[in-house]
Amino acid sequence: MKGVILAGGVGARLNPLTEITNKHLLTVGKEPMIWHPIRQMVLCGIQEILVVTSTHHMGDIVNSLGSGRRFGCHFTYKVQEEAGGIAQALALAERFAESQPILVLLGDNIFEHSIAEHVAAFRKQKKGARVLLKEVGDPERFGIAALDEKHVISIEEKPKQPKSNYAVVGCYMYDRGVFEIIRAVKPSKRGELEITDVNNAYIKKRSLKFGFVKGRWTDAGTFESLIEANELLLSIDNRIMDG
Ligand code: DAU
Repeated sequence: MKGVILAGGVGARLNPLTEITNKHLLTVGKEPMIWHPIRQMVLCGIQEILVVTSTHHMGDIVNSLGSGRRFGCHFTYKVQEEAGGIAQALALAERFAESQPILVLLGDNIFEHSIAEHVAAFRKQKKGARVLLKEVGDPERFGIAALDEKHVISIEEKPKQPKSNYAVVGCYMYDRGVFEIIRAVKPSKRGELEITDVNNAYIKKRSLKFGFVKGRWTDAGTFESLIEANELLLSIDNRIMDG
């Protein structure tokens, strides 16, 4: 299994901080933001990691991460020229993935606990996709899952009238079929290739499974959520807790 960290985009919602550096290098707790998804992947036993970044202060990202030696992994880098959406950024990973299953983390997602148990469940699952859900108070900001007793039956991106409070967080596990699915995805109204459309395609094929995030989770893409992410990681000294 290989890892893909998506750290493209320009971080417009964090301007003017993102005028001086890449969003994913802003401090969260005691470390740059992107170090968190890297540490998560290494805890899952993933050593081959692709980092997809924009050209925006890209050199700073490479300066911070280097080859991966300090984290116990090996990095490959790819550039997403424009912020065409999470699924567009993921499409850049096709050759890197070499038909292996992949763990995808958004570069601004912060988890209190290790996600290793979910990755272990996906390794057993072998086919299809797996997403993680977390109950949130502001569902209009996220991809939101509608659930029956056992399944996710649909996901809606930033719904005005959310069908639940369960956000699909920025942690996705996919089999090799994901790239074919992305090729069929059309840009959304906001002009992006949406990861939610990719996940809905797996739902249609009845091959999307899910788990619930243990402990606290937040993104760090707005000033408010960046503060929350800081408080979260400071409270655990940037040490991810066991699953
Ligand atoms: O945080 C979880 C949410 O992330 C999900 O619930 C949503 O379904 C998903 O669409 C996403 O929503 P956001 O609006 O928060 O995504 P944002 O545009 O802030 O992008 C999050 C990260 O994804 C960002 O830090 C870098 C990466 N990204 C994003 C875009 C748009 C890319 O690498 N390339 C891109 O073009």
